[in-house]
Amino acid sequence: MKKKFFITTAIDYANGRPHLGHAYEKVLTDVVARYRRMTGDEVHFLTGIDEHGQKVTQTAKAQGKSPEELTNEVAPLFVDLCKTLLISNDDFIRTSETRHTDVVRSILQDLHDRGDIYKARYNGYYSVRQEQFVLEKERVNGEWPEIYGEVVEIEEENYFFRLGKYQDWLVSFLRENEFVFPLFRQKQVTEFLKEPVNDLCISRPVERLSWGIRLPFDEDFVTYVWFDALINYISAVGYGTERFGEYWPCDYHVIGKDILVPAHAVYWPIMLKAIGVPLPKSLLVHGWWHTGGAKLSKSSGVSIDPFEISKAFGPDALRFFLTREMNVGQDSDFTMELFLSRYNADLANNYGNLVNRLLNLSGRHLKDGLAAATVDGDPEHEVRALWEKTREDILRLYEGFQFHTALERIFQFITALNRYAEIRAPWKLAKSDNPDDRAVLETSLAVIAEGVRLATVAVIPVMPGVAERVLGLLREEVPPTWEGQFDWGNRLEGRTFGERAILFPRPG
Ligand code: ME8
Ligand code: MG
Repeated sequence: MKKKFFITTAIDYANGRPHLGHAYEKVLTDVVARYRRMTGDEVHFLTGIDEHGQKVTQTAKAQGKSPEELTNEVAPLFVDLCKTLLISNDDFIRTSETRHTDVVRSILQDLHDRGDIYKARYNGYYSVRQEQFVLEKERVNGEWPEIYGEVVEIEEENYFFRLGKYQDWLVSFLRENEFVFPLFRQKQVTEFLKEPVNDLCISRPVERLSWGIRLPFDEDFVTYVWFDALINYISAVGYGTERFGEYWPCDYHVIGKDILVPAHAVYWPIMLKAIGVPLPKSLLVHGWWHTGGAKLSKSSGVSIDPFEISKAFGPDALRFFLTREMNVGQDSDFTMELFLSRYNADLANNYGNLVNRLLNLSGRHLKDGLAAATVDGDPEHEVRALWEKTREDILRLYEGFQFHTALERIFQFITALNRYAEIRAPWKLAKSDNPDDRAVLETSLAVIAEGVRLATVAVIPVMPGVAERVLGLLREEVPPTWEGQFDWGNRLEGRTFGERAILFPRPG
């Protein structure tokens, strides 16, 4: 059995509606997953929701519901988000499922048996917003960092996991391995590990918090939500059973920068080390979307809600924007103004216009389907040469997570095709009786058609819906992989294309 390419997103707190940040992480992960499928990998893509803990409990209480009622309401919204955004996840895990809770309990028992869990008094601070124990020394001028929201003091008996015992091992592991992409973020982990790491409090007394997984060796406590949540990555793929080896080690955990340290880069590797499971190969860490233009969006009538944007402009347009505008690892700003300008310039006026031109002209002037390209002049050479360069670039860029630049290159190629159309101007040649003019007309449509096919195949990971539609209009199947797809050729010869279509309508 060939090992699968296994990729995950973070599991989102089930305490509210999905927002743009959640949408982005799923789109980014989906672009990687779809890219890998195009290279021939068998992919397993896991996403889901994080249901336990105080954050969910508090929100439920404020809404007069039980935590179960709340998470049962929220779960379908996240499932729906995936469907709406054409996310190709193979699994969706909820941490309340027994396939998960059973594994969490067995791991806790295992660690307890190994002597890595002990009971002690906890006296310290807790941020419910981040579901994180925080340290006095993190205060800046007496204030807690804003990201923590309200910080409360707690004092209680609890169980602890011996994190500190594994610190030296982790430090040397990070010295020898590239574990975090982009690599500059690994330095943050190394910095964090310069100070001694405290053992991790992994429980809350039931009387303080009841919505969680009970400790198998002491039912008066529930498991700390992060300890529970991280385990989803292995519980979902059959940890403890034979099929686990088909998936693990995971290739990429895709996460936001706020949950790298300490959760994914310290707790998780140490938890795995302690139970004797190999580490994931890499953490792919993205930055944050800021919505500086939130005010702007109100005046344009569309809020920055992934469902609303997808409804108004289509899921592919949102996927395109998120991928085109974000340099993976950095932060970016989402404003409706920026969104609309990309939508109009890149999608409607560039790509959409090119497809429209092709369908319109071939429908009008090609009675027997697409003819052969018989003219081989400078303009044809230039287009083909640009494609050869583009195809090399984009494969390298996709591989290195430089999706924004890959899209830039593909759209430069599309721009060049529109320019080529202007140069050959087939619409002007249509009235001529001269066979040379006819040959140029036919050639130019063959070139444009092949160019549209190539550009479309190249954007499949980012715009799968639009790609399927355009390929359908070209009477092409969506290829399962990119094998042989990027060779410039004449496979469309003789085809009669579909009717002219508006791919990216002006929002009504
Ligand atoms: O942290 N831009 O859940 P969460 C980009 N349950 N990404 C963003 C973002 C933004 N503005 N806001 C949030 C949790 N995210 C835990 C994870 S994993 C075992 C448990 C990202 O709902 C964030 O960085 O607060 C994280 O990767 C994901 O959304 C879920 O955040
Ligand atoms: Mg968060």
